[in-house]
Amino acid sequence: METNIQKKRENKKSLRVKVISLGNAEVGKSCIIKRYCEKRFVAKYLATIGIDYGVTKVQVRDREIKVNIFDMAGHPFFYEVRNEFYKDSQGVILVYDVGLKESFDALDSWLSEMKQEMGSQANMESIIFVVCANKVDLSKRRVVDESEGRLWAESRGFHYFETSAQSGEGINEMFQAFFSSITDMCENGGRRPVSEVNVGFTREQADTIRRIRASKDSWDMLGVKPGATREEVNKAYRKLAVLLHPDKCVAPGSEDAFKAVVNARTSLLKNIK
Ligand code: GTP
Ligand code: MG
Repeated sequence: METNIQKKRENKKSLRVKVISLGNAEVGKSCIIKRYCEKRFVAKYLATIGIDYGVTKVQVRDREIKVNIFDMAGHPFFYEVRNEFYKDSQGVILVYDVGLKESFDALDSWLSEMKQEMGSQANMESIIFVVCANKVDLSKRRVVDESEGRLWAESRGFHYFETSAQSGEGINEMFQAFFSSITDMCENGGRRPVSEVNVGFTREQADTIRRIRASKDSWDMLGVKPGATREEVNKAYRKLAVLLHPDKCVAPGSEDAFKAVVNARTSLLKNIK
């Protein structure tokens, strides 16, 4: 009797989870996992062929977690091998290289591939996502800044970490937060707790910052037609200023977006009678 109770307690405390890594080829997925599991870095590129599989044990609070890691190949060539492995994951590590914009832009298509392969029963709310902005040690070649990456991640309720598999920066912090969130989710009946990543900004604010960053000129930035009147420019400006004012908006990149809007308005008003 005693041992049965003990066994039940132990069962409750141990947990098995499956996590996968996603992202373009050569962004550093395998190196991030190797840095965490083996505490080392390999500078030579050894492309993952299809899938690499590994198991590790971690301790989160009073629970022992057995983590099955499926490290996916990023190359399109391996799609047929990869697509089998999306199902039943509790956690996803999404990786991009901060020196390659296309690897950041590809994150959306990685999510789409995953959703497609998981099929109609896919419940993205039961999965913890962590985004790794990797290779931050190569600061000179960096093209995707922190606010852009953080905004993409946090506006989706995903964790965001700046990492370097080479130096080890951010790697342990990232895995600790990742495993602890997965444990919280499992204890919460398999649903991502609402306060999982407390973003503190709205989807509208995030989308507006993204739109401002991508705008081609000042008219476009304020969302008015070329040739708009002073009144129209001021009206559009006021709306954006209320949305993005640094006192009100804590979204990553909001301060720069706000400044850009102020400058756009000033330059447009100079040329409108
Ligand atoms: P696939 O398996 O083809 O999908 O690639 P991957 O994403 O697993 O990339 P991998 O971990 O094999 O790393 C690719 C290359 O980037 C290797 O040459 C690594 O040494 C290098 N690399 C990975 N992470 C870092 C990093 O943080 N900093 C630097 N400087 N190089 C890194
Ligand atoms: Mg790999």
